[in-house]
Amino acid sequence: MISKERMEDLIQGVEIEVFPSIDSTNSEAKRRAMEGAALPLLVCAEEQSAGRGRLGRSFYSPSKSGLYMSLAFEAKGSMADAVTVTSAAAVAVAESIELLCARDCLIKWVNDIYVDGRKVCGILTEAVHGERIVIVVGIGINCTTQEFPSEIKDRAGSVGEVDRSCLAAAVAKKLLYYCDALSERKWIDEYRRRSLVLGEKINYTEGGEVKSALAVAIDENGGLVIRENGVERTLFTGEITVRVADSEF
Ligand code: BTN
Repeated sequence: MISKERMEDLIQGVEIEVFPSIDSTNSEAKRRAMEGAALPLLVCAEEQSAGRGRLGRSFYSPSKSGLYMSLAFEAKGSMADAVTVTSAAAVAVAESIELLCARDCLIKWVNDIYVDGRKVCGILTEAVHGERIVIVVGIGINCTTQEFPSEIKDRAGSVGEVDRSCLAAAVAKKLLYYCDALSERKWIDEYRRRSLVLGEKINYTEGGEVKSALAVAIDENGGLVIRENGVERTLFTGEITVRVADSEF
C-alpha cells in the first residue's frame, strides 16, 4: 500500500494526497492547482482509470503494482527552463530506482527510463497557466506488473518489489532539489551519462515523414542535437518520436 503517513515522514514541506483510484494523478494535480492548492503538491494513486501518456497515448496503470504520481510545483524561472524539468525528472527517477531497487537505469531521450532493455517508466510534464504557472510532472513506474497489454508487452518491463511510498518520496525529493536551482542544471551530466541514444543512429518522425540522423549531443536544455547530412540541429521535447535504429526501443 502507498502510505501518506510514510511519505510525510520521509519528505517535509510537501502537501501529499493518496487515492485508492483516480482518473489520472496529473489531471487531479492540475485540478488542484487551478483551485489554488498549496504547493508543492504530490498526488499518488494505487491505480488510474484514465492514465495519460505523451502524444495523446494512454498509460497502463493497473492496481497496486505500479507507482503513479504527479508532483506539482510553481515554476520559478522562465518557461525555457520549465521545458528542461522533464530531463531533471528522468534523472531523479533513474537515481531513485537504482537506490531502492538496485537496477541500472538508462534514459531514452526524452524521458523514458529503461532497465534491461525494457521501458519501466514514462514521464508526462504539463503546465497550468493562471495567476501562477504550475508545472505538473507525472511519473508512472511499473513495479511488479507482470502482464502488459499486447501493444506494449514486447517493450514494457518492471523494476521489481519496492516500497512505493519510499520510491515516491525519493523521486519527489530529488526532483524538487534539482528544480529548486533549475538554471544550474545539476542533473544534466548525469542525464548525458545515462543516455541510450547518444552516438546512435536514430529515426524520427517529422511532418509525417520518417527521417534518420545521428544523435551527437544533449544540450544544456535537454534538447537532442542531431546531425543529418552534415548539418546539426536540435530537437526539443514533444516535437518528435525517437527510435534507436535496429534495436526497436
Ligand atoms: C509516457 O510514457 O508517455 C508518459 C507516461 C506518464 C504516466 C504518468 S502515471 C502518473 C501521471 N498521471 C498520468 O495520467 N500520467 C502520468
